[in-house]
Amino acid sequence: MKIIRRPEAMVAWSETLRREGVTIGFVPTMGALHEGHRSLIRAGRLRSDALVVSVFVNPTQFGPGEDLARYPRMPDRDHALCRTEGVDVCFEPTVDAMYPKGYQTVVTVSKIAQRWEGERRPHHFQGVATVVTKLFGIVQPHLAMFGQKDYQQAMLVRRLVQDLNLGVKIAVCPTVREPDGLAMSSRNIYLSEEERTIAPLLYKSLKAGGEAIRKGVIEAAAVQNTMAAVLKQEPRFTIEYLAVCDPLTLEPLAQVTSKAILLGAVRLGSVRLIDNLIVSPPRKRCGKEAMEIG
Ligand code: PAF
Repeated sequence: MKIIRRPEAMVAWSETLRREGVTIGFVPTMGALHEGHRSLIRAGRLRSDALVVSVFVNPTQFGPGEDLARYPRMPDRDHALCRTEGVDVCFEPTVDAMYPKGYQTVVTVSKIAQRWEGERRPHHFQGVATVVTKLFGIVQPHLAMFGQKDYQQAMLVRRLVQDLNLGVKIAVCPTVREPDGLAMSSRNIYLSEEERTIAPLLYKSLKAGGEAIRKGVIEAAAVQNTMAAVLKQEPRFTIEYLAVCDPLTLEPLAQVTSKAILLGAVRLGSVRLIDNLIVSPPRKRCGKEAMEIG
């Protein structure tokens, strides 16, 4: 596996392969790779001839007071996982290489970035959209893999690719969970032992909402109450939002009459947890949680 640090070297590698007709798959990450990333890498590996993983803790997507300084960084472990999974290139640029002196261009996706995570983390999605656009420009992938865990991010990237004609196919892969249901995340290491035992309640609350919809509950407010009731069993949770939304626009629904996404965000001590679940009402089952968007 090659480790490339300079954007110009990455561009040169990709241009050569593209000229040879090789399809390039791409998994953008911030490192601290876990089983969720492994599943994205495996999915990318299956669908492309050459696979690039980027490891870049992108400062512009962290707000003031967020965890940029303490975000886990474990390059040796990340390289070992990438090697085991047959990754061709690990692209690890420095902050200065990505945002050189004089840098002044940002990418803003409007509507889809405003609610939910966007409301709680005001500059987050501008940072994500900017770095993803830059990474796509440098890596020049045919296909990029994103996890359903960060559902709003995946939908925002899909919008960005369509709006800016970036020509990258976006695959959204199912969330990988711990045996007790907790969605895998690099930030789970911040949970204390005690917090870790109650953290799966977020997914349980989403499943309770999903179950209500499958049993025929139509009113979104009733579904939200069902989800909230599960979380209220544990006073250490602070609910940030529990939402029933259109799966493509992420606009809130008043009633669930077709496929919907349940979104949840909570605080548990100093840790923020987010998760989601795609559900269909009784007569319009879709059966699959994964979506592929081209
Ligand atoms: O999901 C992430 O790890 C990051 O937001 C991404 C897409 C790598 C951009 O920094």
